[in-house]
Amino acid sequence: MTMPEFPDQPCETCGQNIVLVGFMGCGKSTVGREIGMQLNYPMMDTDSVIVESVGMPIAKIFSKHGEDHFRDLESDLLSQICETECTKQIISTGGGLPVREKNRDWLKKLGYVVWLKASVDTVLKRTGKSNHRPLLNTKNPRDKIETMLAERDPIYSEVADLVINTDELEISETVHGIIESANYHFSNY
Ligand code: S3P
Repeated sequence: MTMPEFPDQPCETCGQNIVLVGFMGCGKSTVGREIGMQLNYPMMDTDSVIVESVGMPIAKIFSKHGEDHFRDLESDLLSQICETECTKQIISTGGGLPVREKNRDWLKKLGYVVWLKASVDTVLKRTGKSNHRPLLNTKNPRDKIETMLAERDPIYSEVADLVINTDELEISETVHGIIESANYHFSNY
């Protein structure tokens, strides 16, 4: 586990949320739910909120309105969350949400950002059986994952306060690491 680099100055406007970012299949929703239960914090999953508000699954949003439209929905949701000044929540984000620079600014404003890192093999193993992720519905998902990880890892790295390599970890170990680090982080605020 990589320890966070703490900011020199506390940010007074920062919400005390734990924000999970990372590639599809890295475990954000499962880990987020578990942290939420242990801390007694509500958990918000951006994909679920969008699916519910639009009234159709993500694959349908992509096929009917295109990926850009989905990205706009993500940005709109994120700005709404920031406006509500929400705090003490677990926010699990869709894998592509941090790609827009403005979104990264919002994520940082929301709180402690944790990147759940996963290798190509891990992502393949964890996403193999599901077909609800339109971007991985291709003939060669391994190639696609490799290309996307190469593009996105620097983006996740830029936004993250903490990086956890989940390849060899049980969910409980990841959860424990995040809670300990977040406690330490927020105790400095
Ligand atoms: C996406 C990740 C998905 C979902 C959509 C696009 C991406 O969320 O938002 O299919 O671009 O990586 P998960 O990371 O929760 O699978």
